[in-house]
Amino acid sequence: MSVLEQSASQKAIELENKYGAHNYHPLPVVLNKGEGVYVWDVEGKKYYDFLSAYSAVNQGHCHPKIVGAMDEQARTLTLTSRAFHNDMLGKYEKFACEYFNFDKLLPMNTGAEAVETALKICRKWAYEKKGIDENEAEIIVCENNFHGRTTTIISFSNDPVARKNFGPYTKGFIKIEYDNLEALEKHLESNKNIAGFLVEPIQGEAGVYVPSEGYLSKAKALCEKHNVLFIADEVQTGIARTGKLLAVDHENVKPDLLILGKALSGGAYPVSAVLANDEIMSVIQPGNHGSTFGGNPVAAAVAMAALTVVKEENLAENAKKLGKLFRDELNKFIENSNICKLVRGKGLLNAIVINDSEDGDTAWNICLKLRDNGLLAKPTHGNIIRFAPPLVMNEEQLMDCVSIIIETLKEFEK
Ligand SMILES: Cc1ncc(COP(=O)(O)O)c(C=O)c1O
Repeated sequence: MSVLEQSASQKAIELENKYGAHNYHPLPVVLNKGEGVYVWDVEGKKYYDFLSAYSAVNQGHCHPKIVGAMDEQARTLTLTSRAFHNDMLGKYEKFACEYFNFDKLLPMNTGAEAVETALKICRKWAYEKKGIDENEAEIIVCENNFHGRTTTIISFSNDPVARKNFGPYTKGFIKIEYDNLEALEKHLESNKNIAGFLVEPIQGEAGVYVPSEGYLSKAKALCEKHNVLFIADEVQTGIARTGKLLAVDHENVKPDLLILGKALSGGAYPVSAVLANDEIMSVIQPGNHGSTFGGNPVAAAVAMAALTVVKEENLAENAKKLGKLFRDELNKFIENSNICKLVRGKGLLNAIVINDSEDGDTAWNICLKLRDNGLLAKPTHGNIIRFAPPLVMNEEQLMDCVSIIIETLKEFEK
């Protein structure tokens, strides 16, 4: 890399450091182009994207069908707000409801907004349908959850960095251990004010924790028994990432409230949604909830194209096949490795655990080396590195990535 080339990245990073709030700690790489499974930095170096913007770019960077739909709609009509109707929203709502098999959809923009929306619907349902006394409803959540960054959502996080000095916190949440049915049952049996159970089918941000087989279906059955809404946050796990359209599909679970975001647009535009059947969604009436941009015609066009690509290109099947291959190959390597202890995940949502303390910097240093070797990934927590490439990857590319990862890990063997 020449001195001149180095300065392009350096300059961009310095601008962000000087003028941007320091709310992220990105890997030092500055990207300016993406196509399919690849991204390029400002010096022209090509990388495999092995994060996919936290599973938003499942359909690959700049998918021509998605960009085409966005471009066409952007030239026609971009925003009406919900003060008026637009001719795309209803089409998209019908399309998505049939696609995911629900009666109704409520459109928002970001994942956190969709989570907030689901929490509000759940509370309103609790008062108006279940008959819980006003202001008494409680929602069960899991330890080590990640559902976004709003004040209410961080109120039930147990990540000190996300919470500290952002209080006072929103009340009405009970935290239980993830993957613990007894804890769930205990609260459901003893507390008549439980309105919902909010869960990630796989805990992505926490480090790709896959719960025991049967956890989701049994948790759903317990919720049904106690007339409590099962709320699946599939913002990260949804839309083919884990080898099925939804991660709950692995256990044939139908959530009462389904939360989607990220790959709902293939990463082209902020699009999120909550889906539910009529008996639940009917609690929402004009004035109760909304967003200026939610349900805008560009989002509608982009989401329909993004969902079409997922089916047309068999992305769930591909994620399942390549995910198994990835874990098989990594497991072979781990047998004789001191640096990597474990690989876990489902479909193409995987993580490796590095043999270091949770506050060590080995995982970060490995990600820097992976970058130098042409692959971009990032630690989730301390010693865990998440691997989530775009689902349009082919087998040859995946094997190329496996060899980059293994060769890089070998450089760190003790
Ligand atoms: C499970 C889950 N829910 C919600 C969110 C928040 O989404 P957003 O960053 O779009 O607000 C995320 C983001 O990573 C997530 O993984």
